[in-house]
Amino acid sequence: MLKKFNHLAIAVKNIKKASEMYKHAFDAKVSSPKSYPKHGVKVVFVEMDNSKIELMEPLDGHSPISNFLKKHPEGGIHHICVEVENIYKVRDNLIEKGFRILGDGQPKIGAHDKLVLFLHPKDFNNTLIELEQE
Ligand code: CO
Repeated sequence: MLKKFNHLAIAVKNIKKASEMYKHAFDAKVSSPKSYPKHGVKVVFVEMDNSKIELMEPLDGHSPISNFLKKHPEGGIHHICVEVENIYKVRDNLIEKGFRILGDGQPKIGAHDKLVLFLHPKDFNNTLIELEQE
């Protein structure tokens, strides 16, 4: 069911500073920031030939990544994202096998304007996995 690796996401306190750091260190191509109020984050993508790194900054104190940044004030790896062919089929299959989906279990429009959902990290070695409809 896992089709393609899409991105690795890093939570950061200051997305502008983090973007500048990647540009300065690697001459990296970084997309312009985009806000996703429904997800409570502002994101940019550091582009590579075969993949990307998502940098995320919380939009406010209620953002789902605010707590993460309290525990990891310098930022840190937050989730990995893998593409699937049919997100509803994969979700139903996972639920049938006893895995937990975060939130209400309904796929939402994510940072690539495609449907995404998140799996419970406790079911996957404390790794937050985002599934994205390819
Ligand atoms: Co993501």
